[in-house]
Amino acid sequence: MVYAMFTVENITRYFGRFKALDNISFKVDNGEIVGYVGLNGAGKTTTIRICVGVLRPSSGDVIVDGYSITRQKREASFHIGWVPELPIFELDEKAIDYFVYLAGYYGLSRSEAHRLGKELFEQVGLSRFMERRLKHYSLGMKKRFALAISMINDPRNFFFDEVLNGLDPKGIAFFRDLVKRFKREGRAVLFSSHILSEVENIADRVVFIHKGRIIAVKTMDEIKSMAKPALVVKVSNPDDKLPKILEKYGEVRVRNGKYILVFRGKPDKNQIVRELVENGYSVEEIRSARTSLEKVFFKLIGEAGEEQ
Ligand SMILES: Nc1ncnc2c1ncn2[C@@H]1O[C@H](COP(=O)(O)OP(=O)(O)O)[C@@H](O)[C@H]1O
Ligand SMILES: [Mg+2]
Repeated sequence: MVYAMFTVENITRYFGRFKALDNISFKVDNGEIVGYVGLNGAGKTTTIRICVGVLRPSSGDVIVDGYSITRQKREASFHIGWVPELPIFELDEKAIDYFVYLAGYYGLSRSEAHRLGKELFEQVGLSRFMERRLKHYSLGMKKRFALAISMINDPRNFFFDEVLNGLDPKGIAFFRDLVKRFKREGRAVLFSSHILSEVENIADRVVFIHKGRIIAVKTMDEIKSMAKPALVVKVSNPDDKLPKILEKYGEVRVRNGKYILVFRGKPDKNQIVRELVENGYSVEEIRSARTSLEKVFFKLIGEAGEEQ
């Protein structure tokens, strides 16, 4: 049987009387990178902590490669790699020593652990810092170290919680490339972020969470087509015929006396100006615009708010 890499099934989680997660369900397939996007406090970290088995759901379950995280935690854990939001390694130990110690839990001998440690430190770009004490690692280095730990088991499912947050451009590029490699290797990756544009060039699909609920699941192509190119047009003498003319070029919206044209393809600004002038309009303003990804994000959130 081939399993979807992991499925989150009707997870609800209360903290006291506060419902942090309300019946969350989604799945991530083999070779798929899914962005998990929501504002701060939406419930991303809580979801991920439940997925990796460090927090129990009030109800619901997560099935990882066929194993239940609530009933078969040990087996499920072997299929999971996790880089937490704020990896805390305020340890006096040298990175490689701590790695060897942790690898012991996976049944590796000291020499095996040392060999694997060298290889993984190299893969995560920490070769030069193997002997440095963890408490002297920067946040980015801690994230790389957490990644090396998460790879000990060669898991097929990864959970990255705000992994790009606080990284320099080099660190960001490193994680992007790594996630793409995981995808090619057929692994499943869930990638949380509070910034939609951050996952734009990484995710195949985005699950949007807002106030503990899934409000939308969209492919990156769908999201990009929501953020279409647009033109803002203003004429000093509009009349009833004007929208008809503009409709030939794109979808027309009117806001503050300005006509906003939304396109599927690339707009031909000159052609539009020519036609407007030929029809006796005096064009005050015409400029390119684009609905940004963050606007798409807020639109989705807004729609979810209206439904409640
Ligand atoms: N251990 C906890 N005790 C009480 N409330 C919590 C706890 N963990 C998270 N929360 C609350 O649950 C909500 C979701 O938090 P979190 O999952 O960390 O959001 P995100 O990662 O999307 O920023 C927030 O309102 C947060 O304050
Ligand atoms: Mg978080």
